[in-house]
Amino acid sequence: MLALENIKKSYKGQEVLINASISIAEKEMVSIMGRSGAGKSTLLNIMAGLIKPDSGRALFNGNDLTAIDEESLAAFRLKHIGIVFQDFKLIPSLSLSDNILLGIYPRKDIKDSDKTSRVNELAERVGLKHKLKEKVDNLSGGEKQRVAIARSLVNRPVIVLADEPTGNLDSATSDSIMALFRELHQTMLTSFIIVTHDKDIAQKTDKTYVLQKGEIRS
Ligand SMILES: Nc1ncnc2c1ncn2[C@@H]1O[C@H](COP(=O)(O)OP(=O)(O)O)[C@@H](O)[C@H]1O
Ligand SMILES: [Mg+2]
Repeated sequence: MLALENIKKSYKGQEVLINASISIAEKEMVSIMGRSGAGKSTLLNIMAGLIKPDSGRALFNGNDLTAIDEESLAAFRLKHIGIVFQDFKLIPSLSLSDNILLGIYPRKDIKDSDKTSRVNELAERVGLKHKLKEKVDNLSGGEKQRVAIARSLVNRPVIVLADEPTGNLDSATSDSIMALFRELHQTMLTSFIIVTHDKDIAQKTDKTYVLQKGEIRS
């Protein structure tokens, strides 16, 4: 479903990805481990079509994301790929429901009433239905990440890419977020790629890849 083939990426002459290849099937839950600076975020951004590699292909169902124009790519990403960040990237002054809605707001092919019901459904799935009108500012870190996860799933993507999703959380909260990913994986049949430097987190997925010296090993 999602594959990187022989990806190279350098920043100002510094080689970060040298020959990175990986293939993720539908309904997989995997992790990619690597130390800080190994190129994990770069790799994830290439998978999402957010940055272009210097060479190599990023294939989604056979279509090369490195070869399509920005506008089509943005539309494609919105429908098919969910993204979760370490620092949540929510709007603190807005309510939970508005933050989740922002994930689906640009879609013209979905009715407003359906958007609202999806927001409610996702809030329930992440255990925050009772706080829908609460401002994100008033939530704990773990709750904020739950909102971000709800937002990542509101378009019903086939895959969610999570970049150090537990990096800002204590270990008990990290475990509960990993349990939530597991549950969502099982109930929504979404693929998850969890990027982390933490072995304990990686072990909670079905398969772990290691990014080292610009290559991915399984
Ligand atoms: N936009 C950029 N410009 C220059 N260097 C960058 C840029 N993004 C990342 N890097 C460098 O590339 C390397 C890998 O970064 P990154 O992909 O963020 O690694 P990780 O997420 O594993 O910590 C680091 O040395 C980082 O400083
Ligand atoms: Mg990173």
